[in-house]
Amino acid sequence: MVLRCNVAATKSSGKLVSSSRFHNIRRVPTKVIAVANQKGGVGKTTTAVNLAACVAAVGRRVLLFDLDPQANATSGVGLDKLEGASAYRALLGEGGLLEKIQSTVFERLEVIPSEMDLCGLDIELPRAENHLQQVARALLPVLESQRFDLVLVDCPPSLGVLTLNAMAAADGVLVPLQCEYYALEGISMLNRIMSQLHDNGVNSRLELVGVVMTMFDSRTKLCQQVVSEVREHFADRVFETMIPRSTRLAEAPSFGKPIIHYDKYSAGAAAYELLAQELLVRLDALGVAADLSRP
Ligand SMILES: Nc1ncnc2c1ncn2[C@@H]1O[C@H](COP(=O)(O)OP(=O)(O)OP(=O)(O)O)[C@@H](O)[C@H]1O
Ligand SMILES: [Mg+2]
Repeated sequence: MVLRCNVAATKSSGKLVSSSRFHNIRRVPTKVIAVANQKGGVGKTTTAVNLAACVAAVGRRVLLFDLDPQANATSGVGLDKLEGASAYRALLGEGGLLEKIQSTVFERLEVIPSEMDLCGLDIELPRAENHLQQVARALLPVLESQRFDLVLVDCPPSLGVLTLNAMAAADGVLVPLQCEYYALEGISMLNRIMSQLHDNGVNSRLELVGVVMTMFDSRTKLCQQVVSEVREHFADRVFETMIPRSTRLAEAPSFGKPIIHYDKYSAGAAAYELLAQELLVRLDALGVAADLSRP
């Protein structure tokens, strides 16, 4: 996502030539997306891990930020849960987040791992000043480093302080919804909190980047009913791509691999590849007005 210039051409006369063409050269700012839904087991981690891998596979530099003490995203990309490796200290203002970034065996995909110690932040963060802005503060040097095109934050299943911090730091929220009867339960709360963060100035950039239907089974009438209800509610915010229920997707984390590296030709891999394409289109549109006003 870097707009490049041909430096060799500018050097042809032996010195750098000033040209108005080059005044437009700037890097597109890193986008931060929080993958959130307070409901448990709806496919947040599966979506965060697989989208991260698919976006990296098409050439973007991706940071997967595991903000869930369960650390499923960490193991999902093949990393062990190691004591002291998480963002815990950095989020309390002790040390930087850049030092917490670890590479994976997958090209262009890096991770800030999680471990159980993040649980403590539910109690410790609220004591800090500006306690909703600690992820945003800690992420700032990461964004300024321009090492990544996309940061995907895997949130825990609650609307607690970690999820609120992720949403306060994000350009957009991506909500996975499981195709089941109670899919929309609690979504009004998530919506209300997003509006509050937006309206009271905690994060005026925040947008709903999209809703993705997960564990879709075309054979059941219930799934189809849920999808049409969700589409009625969220209209074009619902991604066209739906993630099928698939055993291969459920197996992949136990091998520490995203689905495109575990079973490249499976239906789950194809779905996440398509979802990544849709996401990239939406990311380009996300916050464009805000970006244009930046220097
Ligand atoms: N499309 C799918 N097909 C089959 N199984 C799936 C699919 N998506 C996720 N799963 C499985 O469902 C379970 C829950 O998924 P996942 O961990 O991604 O949800 P989550 O929302 O992150 O959960 P939590 O709220 O606990 O963090 C996991 O066992 C996962 O492997
Ligand atoms: Mg999870």
